[in-house]
Amino acid sequence: MINSSVNRVEGCQDDGRAASTPSGRPASTKASPVNVVLLGATRGIGRALARLLAERGDRLCLLGRDPHELARSGADLEARGASGRVLGVRCDLGDAQRFGPALDAAGAELGRIDLVVLSAGAFGTQEQLEADPALCQQVLDLDFTKAILFCEQARVRLLAGGGGTLCVFASVAGDRARKPVALYGAAKAGLAHYLDGLDLRFRSGGLRVVTVKPGFVHTAMTDGLRPPPFAATPEAVAACALRGIARGRRVIYAPAIWRALMAVICALPRPVLRRAAF
Ligand SMILES: NC(=O)c1ccc[n+]([C@@H]2O[C@H](COP(=O)([O-])OP(=O)(O)OC[C@H]3O[C@@H](n4cnc5c(N)ncnc54)[C@H](OP(=O)(O)O)[C@@H]3O)[C@@H](O)[C@H]2O)c1
Repeated sequence: MINSSVNRVEGCQDDGRAASTPSGRPASTKASPVNVVLLGATRGIGRALARLLAERGDRLCLLGRDPHELARSGADLEARGASGRVLGVRCDLGDAQRFGPALDAAGAELGRIDLVVLSAGAFGTQEQLEADPALCQQVLDLDFTKAILFCEQARVRLLAGGGGTLCVFASVAGDRARKPVALYGAAKAGLAHYLDGLDLRFRSGGLRVVTVKPGFVHTAMTDGLRPPPFAATPEAVAACALRGIARGRRVIYAPAIWRALMAVICALPRPVLRRAAF
């Protein structure tokens, strides 16, 4: 566990309804702070989202694998307005044994947990994953098996606390099999399927499950890749996700244009997809 306060080292639409938990509070209001645990907020989309949460005064706890990055991110979030200290807790998405203890440490720090965000994940291009079975195993393991095992631990704790929101980053790549993302997309499709079932199973008990499906986002994950049309910044995707959470959405395409784009891609006849390069 790392105490970072000591060791300073657009447009969204969906199919959901109004939020009913504290984490559904719109970003603009100044109600009591929402208590949020994030895994994957030291970089990229997760960091952008954590910054928005800090700026509205939420109480944050960061889970992550690198103590220095956790401390640095915690100090950054405190400076941006997070309520109280931002604790960093060691948790590698590859180590499922740590999920429960890390979430418990976060819960002990925050008192109660309203919102858990999982944005940690791994990526490899189709070519990289086909050429490197070890990398392929790692990406499939982190983005599917370990992501689900983390959600299971979060689910138990949110329900035990009377309910809350679980927000998880899947991808538009999981909506339909396509040549360039056949492997990565398979993991994200499986994850989204699980999240769908989780919502069906536990919504009545007070668990709200939010699945965010970004398109291409300019982050370290996509560094060096040629951006397709509608590529977005992590800040825009984070704002979209936060708005969707506040509005009680279940599935959030980020940016929103991806909902329409994926509807078209999902409707394409198979022979067209066989010929297409995307
Ligand atoms: N970027 C895109 O185009 C895109 C598109 C669709 C979906 N997504 C999904 O959106 C999520 C966020 O992506 P991003 O682009 O923001 O990624 P990113 O910039 O690479 O950041 C990934 C974050 O996850 C953390 N992380 C990675 N592996 C971890 C591990 N084993 N244990 C703990 N933390 C780990 C990283 O921590 P460290 O600082 O320790 O590395 C970092 O905070 C991912 O689930 C990704 O699949 C991204």
